[in-house]
Amino acid sequence: MACCFYGLKCLVYMVKCSYEQKPFRRSLMHVWGADVHPSPSATTQCGRAILAADPESPGSLGIAISEAVEVAAQDPETKYALGSVLNHVLMHQTVTGLEAKKQLEMIGEKPDVIAGCVGGGSNFAGLMLPFWPDKAEGRPIRFIAAEPAACPTISRGPYAYDFGDTAKLTPLLKMHTLGHGFVPPAFHAGGLRYHGMAPILSALASHGAVTAVALRQKACFDAAMLFARTEGIVPAPETSHAIKVVVDEALAAKEAKEERVIVFQFSGHGHFDLNAYDAHLAGKLVDDEYPQEMIAKALKDLPVV
Ligand SMILES: Cc1ncc(COP(=O)(O)O)c(C=O)c1O
Repeated sequence: MACCFYGLKCLVYMVKCSYEQKPFRRSLMHVWGADVHPSPSATTQCGRAILAADPESPGSLGIAISEAVEVAAQDPETKYALGSVLNHVLMHQTVTGLEAKKQLEMIGEKPDVIAGCVGGGSNFAGLMLPFWPDKAEGRPIRFIAAEPAACPTISRGPYAYDFGDTAKLTPLLKMHTLGHGFVPPAFHAGGLRYHGMAPILSALASHGAVTAVALRQKACFDAAMLFARTEGIVPAPETSHAIKVVVDEALAAKEAKEERVIVFQFSGHGHFDLNAYDAHLAGKLVDDEYPQEMIAKALKDLPVV
């Protein structure tokens, strides 16, 4: 939409499983004039190499980034801006946390728990970082990052230097990582299928200041259904992970007979994910976990620094 408004050409590499699972998101990009390729594609060198090794690859955010960076790097007129992960993106997103803080002040509340789902980490960090000084000054806020059990970057990935993309085109980042070659199963929260995590968030997690929980998609969809039926808003599958944390925290508070102020980031609606809701209602969703040996295999390729 932004490219359309500013008269710029837009080329999108959309992770193949999302391209197939979310056809209306693709349609919307076509409406605004973008060219959309399923990634991995045959249009780039790294896409072709990945397809040669695995013609059925579902794709990953790391592969899509590699394809886009490869195209951008060949054209001096083209610039590439990453939409998450990098610390400056988190800084831009803090507008949401600053606003939430003001709104809480207006109603005389302070958060006990702040939750969000994490793909590259930007929506969650954007909400929690403005509250960090309060925690550093001693207020016991718990920051909870919700990630999929099938892509458990903080929970099961080491804190190490790695590339932000599969073809090793980005600079190295110190972060929690499952390895730049990690290709998660094709679960529905496509925006959470990223091997790495924002460096600031990774540093906070490695110091124990942010806690990660790894969640299975069926339980997340149950929480999303509860939210839709009580609030009237259908959450994105990614957002359902944050909502699952909120529901669990609220039930724990009820059990403990405590009042807790729980704030979470509603990262997106699920109007383009109704296929996933249909599959959930039909009992067709499966809960993938990623086997330890596959993680170990992807971690073998971490750069030696
Ligand atoms: C709806 C939604 N929520 C959350 C995310 C996760 O991204 P991040 O962790 O970078 O905020 C995405 C990513 O595409 C998304 O589409």
